[in-house]
Amino acid sequence: MAADDDIVQFDAQFLSDPDAAYAALRAEKPVHRAVTPDGSPVWLVTRYDDVRAALADPRLSLNKRNAGGGYQGFALPSALDANLLNMDAPNHTRLRSILGRGFTRARVEGLRPRIRESAVELLAALPDTGEVDLIEAFAAPLPITVICELLGISAEERPDFRSWTDQMLAPARPEDLGIAMESLWQYLVRLAAVKRATPGDDLISALIEERDVDDRMSEEELISALFLILGAGYENVVHQIGNGLAAVLTRPQILARLREDHTLLSSTVEELVRFTSPAQLAIRRFPTVDVAIGGVTIPAGDTVMLSLASADRDPDRFPDPEVLDPNRAGNSHLGFGHGPHYCIGAPLARIEIEVGLVALLDRYPELALALPYDQLRWRPSFRNRGLLALPVRVGALPSGGADGPLSTPTAAS
Ligand code: HEM
Repeated sequence: MAADDDIVQFDAQFLSDPDAAYAALRAEKPVHRAVTPDGSPVWLVTRYDDVRAALADPRLSLNKRNAGGGYQGFALPSALDANLLNMDAPNHTRLRSILGRGFTRARVEGLRPRIRESAVELLAALPDTGEVDLIEAFAAPLPITVICELLGISAEERPDFRSWTDQMLAPARPEDLGIAMESLWQYLVRLAAVKRATPGDDLISALIEERDVDDRMSEEELISALFLILGAGYENVVHQIGNGLAAVLTRPQILARLREDHTLLSSTVEELVRFTSPAQLAIRRFPTVDVAIGGVTIPAGDTVMLSLASADRDPDRFPDPEVLDPNRAGNSHLGFGHGPHYCIGAPLARIEIEVGLVALLDRYPELALALPYDQLRWRPSFRNRGLLALPVRVGALPSGGADGPLSTPTAAS
């Protein structure tokens, strides 16, 4: 964190160790001015109690219309921007309840066997020994397959769909972003038309059925919802799987216990989301009136950034927050958010992480980082923390096993 007139910058120093930067802010400047890389001035909120309360505060709007001066943000074409993360009640409530009916527990649980099959298939195609990049070979293809299953995208169309999505999230050239978004948009419009003509047992067909009752969801809202599910449901899962694996692989005792005792899986997944969530920040919010947070008055129209990553390591809420503890009690982390915008895909994400972890451990009885932990390379993003690559050695390991030094104390491991 560089001190530029005491304004927090999300610069290379900050990104080299965001946990340390957030720890300093929580202790000294829990609600503080910052500037995002695109030049938007924001207020950065870092303590658990403040972040949790703000996530549920109706005076903090997600609608860009409530943004005052200075906010730059990322502009989607309006046909893709009529989504839940740009809306407040009552519009948000209406759309969320429609989406919730398409996103039932039964539909999500029903995907579990296919997620398992997909994970096993992906891993079967990998070598028995040698070095593998688990982001490229596993963490990225798994969620794209899951999204395609959820949306009912056929096997033939998946390669195009994945390539547009990848280009949109990490464009090789700046102009690729617009091209990929346009292609995806047109594809989603065509897909919605096909599903309307021949409905299937998938989320799009379920949403169209809801949408066509009394026109309760506009066509723009339908396409924007699909686009949001794709964006929110892909990148976060890739990086949650990658970050979680890196954390487990540097804690051999946790790894060994997970192999022996699968009953630890669900609490481990929860702890991995607390400890390594890619979602560093919630979506920006704009106070509709002056609001006091942590003793600081934030004027209406300013931009507020709530740090979920910082809240989840707040020692006032989590004892020994720097310890990855699969048995942590009362783990009410904020990795999936809180309040009306709580992640609608959290149950699906949990299944993907859990199933992915089990399939990987089953496939490779011997698995270790191919690099020391502190040589792993991270994406230069202040919003979404994830690895550029996760090189591992699979199969027979040289004596000594994992050689990655532990980056944080491991009393629980
Ligand atoms: C580990 C993976 C994931 C993480 C860490 C994550 C995180 C989050 C967070 C923090 C929010 C709240 C944002 C805010 O209040 O500002 C959110 C919302 C959302 N997420 Fe996720 N998410 C994940 C996976 C998914 C998946 C798999 C899907 C769908 C397939 C999904 C769909 C959504 C949607 C639609 C919203 C908006 C909800 C609303 O505004 O009412 N997410 N997610």
